[in-house]
Amino acid sequence: MKPILAPSLLAADFSCLDRQVEIVEKAGAQWLHLDIMDFHFVPNLTFGAGIVSSLRSCSDMVFDAHLMVEDPFKFIESFKKAGADYFTFHIEAAENPDQIIRDIKSAGMRCGISIKPSTDISVLLPYLADLDLVLVMSVEPGFGGQSFMPDMLEKSSWLAAEKVKNGYSYIIEMDGGINRENAKKALASGVEALVAGSAVFGAEDIAKEVRYYLDLTIDR
Ligand code: DX5
Ligand code: ZN
Repeated sequence: MKPILAPSLLAADFSCLDRQVEIVEKAGAQWLHLDIMDFHFVPNLTFGAGIVSSLRSCSDMVFDAHLMVEDPFKFIESFKKAGADYFTFHIEAAENPDQIIRDIKSAGMRCGISIKPSTDISVLLPYLADLDLVLVMSVEPGFGGQSFMPDMLEKSSWLAAEKVKNGYSYIIEMDGGINRENAKKALASGVEALVAGSAVFGAEDIAKEVRYYLDLTIDR
């Protein structure tokens, strides 16, 4: 089995986003990771549905939106219209996760939940059967370029075990500090989709870096 690579646009050169996306897409990356921050849930601000919509017209990649926002409800409709394929919200931001899951799905998007490093993974138990994606944060959300937290591999292992035991269908994604040193360990723990921001867009040869991760295998 081959991993999914989701280069994170947060680390791209914002003066030429279309060309940066073209490079990773031509190199074979299947997903584009879109970090949406609202300056409330995290102390940083990025971009919104307008940019996502513009990029939609120049890319066929799967758009993997990661909403680090205080009120995910408010973003569902605009992200659907903008062409997001996956809509992932934070469990820490959700008062009524079941309702958000239903709304995302009825809008026609795939639904993911993300979890911060300090949140216990077992809080996701009631929702696992309904999810298309679980996004394990391996850094504190808010900024690219931070160091990978190896303890988070326990969460991906746990998710992989639950998935097999119960026949769940969610994809296990890991986000934060992923690079050549830890990508294999992440895949060995059960991760199927790797988010990589600085490792990919900060590389001298971006396309070569994309191919490195795509050439890794998942042995299971
Ligand atoms: C952090 C974001 C990540 C970030 C990853 O809050 O969710 O997606 O862009 O960047 P790197 O790979 O540089 O840690
Ligand atoms: Zn992210």
